[in-house]
Amino acid sequence: MKKQPKLIVANWKLNPMTPAEAKKLSGRIERRSKHTAVICPPPVLLPFCSYPRLGSQDCFWETRGHYTGQVSVEQLKALKVKYCIIGHSERRATGDTDVFINGKVRACLAANIIPILCIGAGTTPDEDDLAVVDVLKGQLEHGLAGLDASEVIVAYEPTWAISNGDAMTHRTPTPEHAEHIALYISSRFGVSQVLYGGSVNVRNAAGFLAPDAISGLLVGAESLVPSHFNAIINI
Ligand code: PGA
Repeated sequence: MKKQPKLIVANWKLNPMTPAEAKKLSGRIERRSKHTAVICPPPVLLPFCSYPRLGSQDCFWETRGHYTGQVSVEQLKALKVKYCIIGHSERRATGDTDVFINGKVRACLAANIIPILCIGAGTTPDEDDLAVVDVLKGQLEHGLAGLDASEVIVAYEPTWAISNGDAMTHRTPTPEHAEHIALYISSRFGVSQVLYGGSVNVRNAAGFLAPDAISGLLVGAESLVPSHFNAIINI
């Protein structure tokens, strides 16, 4: 049976540095690929990326008013944003609480932007599975509170597996572990799409894409290398 295309989301984080670089980088990502690719540049660079499927790396829950430095879902929508990453561990680490995250998911749904709710835990690969699942459960209960979970994409990213700047470790869980967590998230919370993220690269992507329970990938560092990202979206 032919496999369904999966969703591959590029999280550019705080890259690249200039509009010209953003234009060049987005221009090098294939538009017609086997899987569905979405690129998420920093908000100030969104207008310079002409890719057909754009995402944001965050948003704010209010639409307008006295909120210095925030970016609203309506502003994102005006820039043709269709997806929004919410609750990434790097944002949780700088102050995003479960209440903020729930507000952001809610705002996206109201604006017809598809939220990609990131959850993750752990500081080492050997952490007790039960303790990890307990943290994920809390993040999901709070993040999805009062919302229709089937409208939200969840990205499972074990915190320890996310690339770490120059000290990239490329440690990842096994695809079986990611599949096990994806099954837990979909069966327990009614989420229909679960992505895996954390040091995905051209060598390990096929393994994470193989299980039916995993609907796609959230890719950081490798999404900045067009030849690698193009290979991943065509696996
Ligand atoms: P990474 O980042 O692929 O560089 O580990 C993934 C992410 O943080 O979303």
